[in-house]
Amino acid sequence: MLRSAVVATPAKVTVPALRARKGKGPKISVVTAYDVTFARLFEQGGVDVLLVGDSLGMVVQGQPTTLAVTLDEIIYHGRAVARGTERAHLVGDMPFMSYQTGVVPALEAAGRMMKEGGFEAVKLEGGEIYAEHVHRLVNAGIPVMGHLGLLPQSVHAMGGFKVQGTNAAAADKIVADAKILAEAGVYAMVLEAIPAELARRVTEAVSVPTIGIGAGPHCDGQVLVGYDLLGMYSEFKPKFVKRFAEAGKLIVEATRAYVSEVERGEFPTLAHAFGAPKELGAPAEQTGAKPVVPATPPGYGPAGEEP
Ligand code: KIV
Repeated sequence: MLRSAVVATPAKVTVPALRARKGKGPKISVVTAYDVTFARLFEQGGVDVLLVGDSLGMVVQGQPTTLAVTLDEIIYHGRAVARGTERAHLVGDMPFMSYQTGVVPALEAAGRMMKEGGFEAVKLEGGEIYAEHVHRLVNAGIPVMGHLGLLPQSVHAMGGFKVQGTNAAAADKIVADAKILAEAGVYAMVLEAIPAELARRVTEAVSVPTIGIGAGPHCDGQVLVGYDLLGMYSEFKPKFVKRFAEAGKLIVEATRAYVSEVERGEFPTLAHAFGAPKELGAPAEQTGAKPVVPATPPGYGPAGEEP
């Protein structure tokens, strides 16, 4: 008897599923994405979490910091990434000044992110002072990811993008903040640019997964900006970045090849062209682009009948 092969759909990554990986693995992989094409590619690569980071201010908009990113922009990019996301868990950064002004503005901003942006969780930067925010958001059904260590939204207060927790008092404060955030209800927390031993202390001190970036190997997961992972910045590579591809070089080479073929008249050839005009009434030739309308448009049946 013939049996058709059953291809198991990978299970959706959820908040409880991520929490359950604390301490026992597999470690959690997180990548930033800002559009549907990258979301689809990272999904195919099996990433657990897609983060629409406010790093988009720097890597998409070309700004020097994340500060100018607006709530509408995060929602816009969230919607795009959500369209390319199936299995991965989708988190969005709460932008600067969308939560710092109080619990109610934070609830309103996070609510918009969930309703309009397609997010499944939000991330906010900071410790103890946001414990009440976390508590209220979580009570409203909005999962919250914390973020400690280097806080890019506080770049001016921190005097630049600098490693944090490098003296005993600062390290103790980060551990204390981590415990308070976990107590307040975060389901995971990013640890950015802190010494590896401090990240180990935090990871051992809290019951929720820690996601490192520039925090060494002892966290429960790792996050990278998608463009860094792919090697799309040739001029700049922070110590904590590992390039898993040199896509930047590939793109430049492909563009050079394209420019050269266009200039020399080698592309396009007739193989990329459409045929001669057809008889009146003949169906239009398909371009080969992905259709945005169904091949057979729905007919108009009698009033009241479902199509
Ligand atoms: O905005 C961002 O991309 C981030 C990650 C680097 C953690 O917050």
